[in-house]
Amino acid sequence: MSATAEQQIEGLFSMPLDEAMRTQRAIRRLKDDPVDDAIVLQLIELALRAPTGSNAQNWEFLVVRDRAVKERLGALNRQAWNLYGGIGRWLNRNEPKMLRLMDAVQWQADHFAEVPVVIVACLRGPRLPFPPVMSSSYYGSIYPSVQNLLLAARSAGLGAALITLPLWSTFLARRALGLPWSVTPCAVVPIGWPRGRYGPTTRRPVGEVVHLDRYGNRPFRDANGR
Ligand SMILES: Cc1cc2nc3c(=O)[nH]c(=O)nc-3n(C[C@H](O)[C@H](O)[C@H](O)COP(=O)(O)O)c2cc1C
Repeated sequence: MSATAEQQIEGLFSMPLDEAMRTQRAIRRLKDDPVDDAIVLQLIELALRAPTGSNAQNWEFLVVRDRAVKERLGALNRQAWNLYGGIGRWLNRNEPKMLRLMDAVQWQADHFAEVPVVIVACLRGPRLPFPPVMSSSYYGSIYPSVQNLLLAARSAGLGAALITLPLWSTFLARRALGLPWSVTPCAVVPIGWPRGRYGPTTRRPVGEVVHLDRYGNRPFRDANGR
């Protein structure tokens, strides 16, 4: 890495891990200000610290900056969102929180091509249909790296979100991205400087989701049973 690139990223990735984990969230409203290659490459370098099945390291990351390509991917995102979002809005018509989330998804759909960088995380090689664990191993070889990428983006103060709607048809997504058949797009991460701010995420309490020794035995729930 050149000395200038090193200066650009110095100190960007030093946030304490628990702070990054607690405040990393889907940030969809992004400025169109540029994000330098040096930062993007460092995000991906940190993503590559993740494990892969058999240490195959069969990942490929497509960094999309070309507006025409972003428009093609954005069109796929919109197609899926028009259907899914319409149903979602109706189902959540009395849930202000969900409706706010959907406004953010709509914003992202409307501004997809203006996002400075879109990273598409892909896997090389076939997904074997049998035994069923092969599917866990397959996608399990890309999502840890995507989470690393999201945490690194959080540390750098960049907004990012893991999305899959643009991949509703891997056939069309491959065509939009010029991917060969041997490469499967698995996750899309639009990245840019956030318009809003980061804040803590709302998640289910730990005692509610932890079972001890056998399913259903949840001794860590609090007094309210959560
Ligand atoms: C596998 C997966 C696919 C997702 N796909 C989309 C998507 O297509 N569009 C989108 O806006 N968010 C997508 N999300 C993001 C979730 O909606 C988001 O993580 C969730 O709403 C929690 O948001 P928060 O982290 O801001 O609390 C996806 C998340 C996961 C894990």
